[in-house]
Amino acid sequence: MAHPADSEAEHQNTVLVIVGGSMAAVKAPSVLRRLRGGGVKVNVIATRAALAFITELSLSTAADGPVGTDEAWFSPRPDALHLTLAKADAAVIVGASAELLAGAAHGHASDLAQATLLSVPGPVLWVPAMNAAMWRNPAVQANVQRLREWGHHFLGPEVGAFGTRGEGAGIGRMAGPEDIAAAALKLLEPALPPESEGRDLEGLKVVVSAGPTREYLDPVRFISNPSSGKMGFAVAQDARDRGAEVVLVTGPVNLPGPPGMAVVRIGSALELRDAVIQAAHDADIVVMTAAVADYRAAEPAGEKQAKVAGDVSIHLTPNPDILAELGRDRGGRVLVGFAMETHAGVERAAAKAARKNADFILLNYPTQAGTAFGGDDNQVTLVRADGSHEDWPRTSKRVVARRLLDEALRVHVQRTAG
Ligand code: C5P
Repeated sequence: MAHPADSEAEHQNTVLVIVGGSMAAVKAPSVLRRLRGGGVKVNVIATRAALAFITELSLSTAADGPVGTDEAWFSPRPDALHLTLAKADAAVIVGASAELLAGAAHGHASDLAQATLLSVPGPVLWVPAMNAAMWRNPAVQANVQRLREWGHHFLGPEVGAFGTRGEGAGIGRMAGPEDIAAAALKLLEPALPPESEGRDLEGLKVVVSAGPTREYLDPVRFISNPSSGKMGFAVAQDARDRGAEVVLVTGPVNLPGPPGMAVVRIGSALELRDAVIQAAHDADIVVMTAAVADYRAAEPAGEKQAKVAGDVSIHLTPNPDILAELGRDRGGRVLVGFAMETHAGVERAAAKAARKNADFILLNYPTQAGTAFGGDDNQVTLVRADGSHEDWPRTSKRVVARRLLDEALRVHVQRTAG
């Protein structure tokens, strides 16, 4: 069977996953599935030791392709398998053993995993898993140090329970599959330009709303949502780094106020409205990432409501739509919104952009693992009122923020020139 790396398809990022000999090898299929879910192709190598813990069939099923093994490497074939598999944009070693670390730190090439690692051009991420005493051994630590000096990345090991034979707790447990896949995908992101190079928002005022709102029903109960505020904070921070004057209006979130900007903390949608409208009157760009509650209690109780027998109903009244209000008198401002949809996303987002007179809306999907609510990554589609749209790849919220502001600046320049 031809290996997927043998054919030259159109460019899709490829991650080489090397599975090492450790109990943690059983987590490798989950890492492979998550990487593929993140839109990348995977090349997989299992060391001889790895195959004592996990079957080749489990790995090839999760990878949807063949697994590179020493047996395949030493069999007659038309190519040099270590060079074919090394055609990857990044490498991650899942369940990295002391042996693999030692081999890489000393340039060994005695098995397929080691020989391939010597040829990978892109960044390398080690995810170690081993007994605490082995991890702390000075020889292992010296090898880790050496690899770090050469620019290799490390994730973990973590402190926690591991092993099944009473090894107990200590440092050495491998990071979880979700974190491994996210760290590997991060290696593929384009480097952000240094701050000094990117002051292209100098002289502009950017207003960002972030987080949820809380609509109190009585003094201790409220309607809200799980918005973490991370997306809005990322936009505010990027705008600040690019030289803008920034006002960040945020609902209740667990994030410290970033330095170098005005931070206004609010609770309800009505408070959010007042703060945003006031800040936005002389703004150049307004980005509404806040997850505004659509309704509030028509008559919030002044005292805590006691439990009653049977059903209760709450009378809710709509909150003002802040983005739409800004859109009615848009002037020269660039208006950006966010929308979460579970179906008919593009059409609904385009209709929303048109109704609210927003320049564009970034659409995301609450059902996608690791993105949107609470996560550090986001996968969005940029949608304009005319229905034109662009799918952006899954990246960190920081990179989404950068692209969002690139697009907002483009619209601003067009509008002020025209
Ligand atoms: O909730 P909806 O999908 O309509 O949100 C789309 C955009 O409108 C978001 O950017 C959100 O911050 C904004 N919005 C608002 N005021 C509301 C509801 C939503 O500004 N009351």
